[in-house]
Amino acid sequence: MSRPILVIDFGAQYAQLIARRVRELGFYSEIVRHSAADQAILERRPQALILTGGPDSVVAPGAKALPEGVLKSGLPTLGICYGMHLLAHALGGTLSSGEVREYGRTDLSTERSVLFTGLPRYLTVWMSHGDTVSAPPPGFRAVGKTRSVPVAAMEDEQRRLFAVQFHPEVAHTDRGTDMLKNFLCSGAGLTPDWTTEDAISLAVDRIRRQVKEGRALVALSGGVDSAVAAALVHRAIGDHLLALFVDHGLLRQGEAELVEAGFTQDYPLPFRRINAQAAFLAGLKGVKDPEEKRKRIGRMFIDTFRAEAERLNGYTFLVQGTLYPDVIESGGGQAAVIKSHHNVGGLPEEIGFELVEPLRDLFKDEVRAIGRELGLPPRLVERQPFPGPGLAVRVVGAVSAKRLAIARAADAIVTEELEKAGSAAKLWQYFAVLTGTRSVGVMGDGRTYHEVVAIRTVTSADGMTADWGRLPLDLLEKMANRIVSEVREVGRVVYDITSKPPGTIEWE
Ligand code: XMP
Repeated sequence: MSRPILVIDFGAQYAQLIARRVRELGFYSEIVRHSAADQAILERRPQALILTGGPDSVVAPGAKALPEGVLKSGLPTLGICYGMHLLAHALGGTLSSGEVREYGRTDLSTERSVLFTGLPRYLTVWMSHGDTVSAPPPGFRAVGKTRSVPVAAMEDEQRRLFAVQFHPEVAHTDRGTDMLKNFLCSGAGLTPDWTTEDAISLAVDRIRRQVKEGRALVALSGGVDSAVAAALVHRAIGDHLLALFVDHGLLRQGEAELVEAGFTQDYPLPFRRINAQAAFLAGLKGVKDPEEKRKRIGRMFIDTFRAEAERLNGYTFLVQGTLYPDVIESGGGQAAVIKSHHNVGGLPEEIGFELVEPLRDLFKDEVRAIGRELGLPPRLVERQPFPGPGLAVRVVGAVSAKRLAIARAADAIVTEELEKAGSAAKLWQYFAVLTGTRSVGVMGDGRTYHEVVAIRTVTSADGMTADWGRLPLDLLEKMANRIVSEVREVGRVVYDITSKPPGTIEWE
């Protein structure tokens, strides 16, 4: 096992993002809270340290201190924002507190240095801070400045200590990943040695240590996350895993068959399909309120799953495909509830299982890479995200078999045309919504009063914010024409050009 790059977390928003960038560069990384850092440095024998940002001011009473082991270890270290202030403060630099505040994009001018080797002299970087370093500690050289910050980057090549005031890990910083690479490869002298295969072995190892001789259930949704989680756990514990697929009848065209074929033929594992369409339709009858729909679906899902689980003996673990962005979206109970997200990974712990969450630290693209490496078929791994409550949140108003069929048919046309045109790969999600509105039209010589379908496509990095898809007008026209002519009950098609925020991706 590789020795980690230890990311020491001082309460940053971006600790996971730093760890992820480090993995992208081919290094194994682990995150540790600042209070546990000294012990982790001793036990895990890291190759290098990264000190994250954090909300405090280094000079404020009670601020999180630099763990003793950081400097004592003599390890190559990169301080980011608060991490930079900690290094400057500990080594005799001068800090100015709260005088200059900079937020958002800022122009940086750089000097010849380890951190900026091979990068342009001027770069746009992402700042978010109150404190700054006004004079670097002895032994350090200021290697980057902005209009208002004289020491926006500093390094002491000899002691292998580096620091930046801005955030190289976020996408808004130009060439930020290259700066991290310069730190790891040139500054710390390390060579990348971490691959997706290693990530799989590590996960398999952890699963085996947790589950031991036990048995686990996984609820498949047809989505990427539960599919990869299932495959990974199957790699770890073999047929001690049983996959349950609750077919609630709210899936897209051909989807249930795809899931079944995926896990009985392409990637066979113990698999059971539970046909619950009628029960879900009955439970949703006449329900119009979006939150009520979501709650009922969530409840019915749990009841169906629990009933099945009770028939089985000896299964004490439950595998969930929770990803890191799901962990943040749940916000530890502090964020306002925009939608009560349900996914099959959202089975509550009270259901009486011990949870196995092998993807909890990962981002979607990393999960896809693991899925590909495990040999899952591309049609399962490359799928767009699909909400747990399925088409029910894309049929505005009451859900019925008939209205589901309309949404499904329109959606299949949207999917087919976007895939054919090669646009699908550029989009995060694309689908049709049955808007619940009717409009007057004319077909042949007659008046019509039919349903309105909205086409929704978005680009996004993680689903947390999104922009509407800029599609060629001809393509939109083609989809609209096909929907109106092939789906009888639809008389008009509109294109949704709302970003998130202020909208959400789904309509309900
Ligand atoms: P919204 O509509 O909140 O969606 O902008 C953000 C992302 O989450 C998906 N989504 C869900 N996923 N269970 C899920 O597993 C849900 O209840 C749910 N609601 C929305 C949505 O498709 C988008 O990718």
